[in-house]
This record gives sequence, structure tokens and C-alpha cells, in this order.
Amino acid sequence: METAQKKRIGILTGGGDCPGLNAVIRAACLTCISHDYELVGLHDGFEGLYEEAYTILDSHKVANIYGEGGTILGTTNIGHYCLPLSEDTIKRTVETYNKLGLQCLICIGGDGTMSIAYVLSQHGVNVVGVPKTIDNDLMATDVTFGFDSAVSVVTDALDRLQTTAASHHRVMVVEVMGRNAGWIALASGVAGGANVILLPEIRWEWESIFATLKARAADKGKRYSLVVVAEGCVPPGSDSQITADDEAKKAVRLGGIGKYVSDRIAKDIGMDTRYVILGHVQRGGSPTSYDRILATKYGSMAAKLAIEGTYGYMASLKGTEVVKVPITAEMREQRKVNPKTDQMVWAARNVGTVFGDEHHSS
Ligand code: F6P
Repeated sequence: METAQKKRIGILTGGGDCPGLNAVIRAACLTCISHDYELVGLHDGFEGLYEEAYTILDSHKVANIYGEGGTILGTTNIGHYCLPLSEDTIKRTVETYNKLGLQCLICIGGDGTMSIAYVLSQHGVNVVGVPKTIDNDLMATDVTFGFDSAVSVVTDALDRLQTTAASHHRVMVVEVMGRNAGWIALASGVAGGANVILLPEIRWEWESIFATLKARAADKGKRYSLVVVAEGCVPPGSDSQITADDEAKKAVRLGGIGKYVSDRIAKDIGMDTRYVILGHVQRGGSPTSYDRILATKYGSMAAKLAIEGTYGYMASLKGTEVVKVPITAEMREQRKVNPKTDQMVWAARNVGTVFGDEHHSS
């Protein structure tokens, strides 16, 4: 006798990877199983729907993956799903969605993934979202998973750089990710005792930075400095960010401000300076406990919404509670640091951290 086909939900990871994706997948899978549902994992983000590439997930496939970095499903931020979606892409997506018998699609991703999910929801695909990005710049949630892990990587790097900087009486400039938002730079700079933090949200001046570094060098107890600079900063006197070459020309790739700042410090005030670009180290490896817990809450919430038929919502952290918020066409709006109201900025200024907007009279 044929066994009846279980009800099915799909899941995919879109955009750049980040620590905690596997913990979301595991939580969604185990929640589905406990409600007698099957979870279908699409390969390489939405491409899995285009190519009909998928894996039926079970408790063995998700066993012990809560602490694994990356995504067992694979992801991509290039391919057929660049907005606006073509008619062919939408057609193939809907066909695969129906062929696989999916009741709903859980989309784990950032602003781009949510925007694609929104478009697909207008074409009969039921969607539920989970907010992901190390940048922590999604307007619709207080915190994205992956951010805490990235901040802990940068903090660890700053701790290490502090001892070598102090030994050599050097300035260490550390470039961190975050796109157009300064959350990673701010949080890690506070946690790692940076003396100067440069954010895209604060217009900074060389004079302020130079005065700070010279004052520290003159103080026998503080003959080194740590400078954290967010990749999205616009240098003084310029109106554009520093970008790396992108052969694919698909998206702007930020990078290079760390070297730029380091070179200026060495050239203008003659200090012994080194720079470090942490790059994708911030995205790799194991998620922190905080991110594993948040990812587990997000994954369970997303599966519950999908099972109950509460479509068109994204799991979101408001304060300490995971709630649901609607997925809208405006999901691309970025959440940035507000230097006037943010308590991290306030606390950092109180402990003497310089943001480059302070006025020094030399
Ligand atoms: O959005 C996450 C992020 O890591 C950004 O901080 C960074 O600018 C970008 O992705 C890098 O993207 P890619 O992995 O495509 O180089």
C-alpha cells in the first residue's frame, strides 16, 4: 500500500552566507518533523528552484549542525535571481514550487532575499522569511543572526592586534565588513577597546584622528593605537566609498579603506602603521551561542508560521522576543547607526573613543 505524501515545506539560504544558517535549518527541520511535515532543502538559494535541485532533509541530515558555519544547502548571490526577476525565472520557480508540492517556502536571507521572496509571493508562492546578515542592517528586526559571531571574530582579532601593536608602539588599522552600516565596526570597536572607530554614519576628519594618535603616542603609557574602520566609510574630502574591482560587475564590492587610512597616517604624521583587512574571516566558522539560540528561535518560528499558514511574514527580534513582521516591497531599507541616539556611541565617547568628528585645537 502506498504511503500518503507528507505535507511539505521548502527552505533555502540566499545571499552571502553567515554563521547560524545551519542552526536555522536544523530548527526548522526538527519543528517540521514534530508536526508531521517534511522539509525540502533547495540548493544554492533560489537557484535550487530554477534548477530543481534539492534534498529532503531529515533528522540525520541536520544532526549536530547547529555549530557548523556556512550553509549545508549552499547559497549564491549571482545567477537568475537578480531583481527585477525575468518572466522565465518566475515561471520556472512557480513550476518547481508546485511540482515539489510545497505549501510554503522559508527564505533565509537579507534584504535582497526578502525582496525576491516578496516578488514571488505576488505570483502564488507562499513565503516566510528569516533575517540573516552579519551586517545587522535590516530595518525590520533589531538583530540579525550572524552579527554576534562576526563581532566576536573582530573582537578576538583586536585583542590579538593590541598586544603586537603595544609591543611595537604601532598604529593598527583594522578594516571590517558591514556594507553601508557601521554596526560591526561600532560593536567590535567598543568590545575590543578601539581608540578610534570610523563609521559610514559619522563624517570624520583627518585632523581629529591625527591629534588623537599623536596624543596617545606622546603618553608613555599608551604608545600604540587601535583604529577600526568600517568598509563603507567615505574618506574626508571625497563623495564615494572605496571599492575593489568586481570582474562580474554585478554589485559594488567595498574594500580598501583600511589601507587608505593606514597610508595617510604613515604619510601625514609619520607613525609606524600597519593595516589588517579581516574580510570573509568575519563570515566563516562556528556561530556564537547567542547566534545559535537566535537562529534556533528564528527557525522554529518560521516553520510554525509556514505550518499554520501564516504566510508573508518574517521572523523578527523585537527586544528579547521573536515576533512576526510582514514581508513588504520596502524591505531593502537599511538600518544604520544613529550617532545621536545610539547608546554604544554614547558609551564609547564616555570612555574616550574617538569617532573623528571631535574638534581638536592643536
Ligand atoms: O552583506 C554581508 C557582507 O559580508 C558585507 O559585509 C560585505 O560587504 C559583502 O557581504 C561581501 O560580499 P561578497 O561575499 O560577495 O564578497
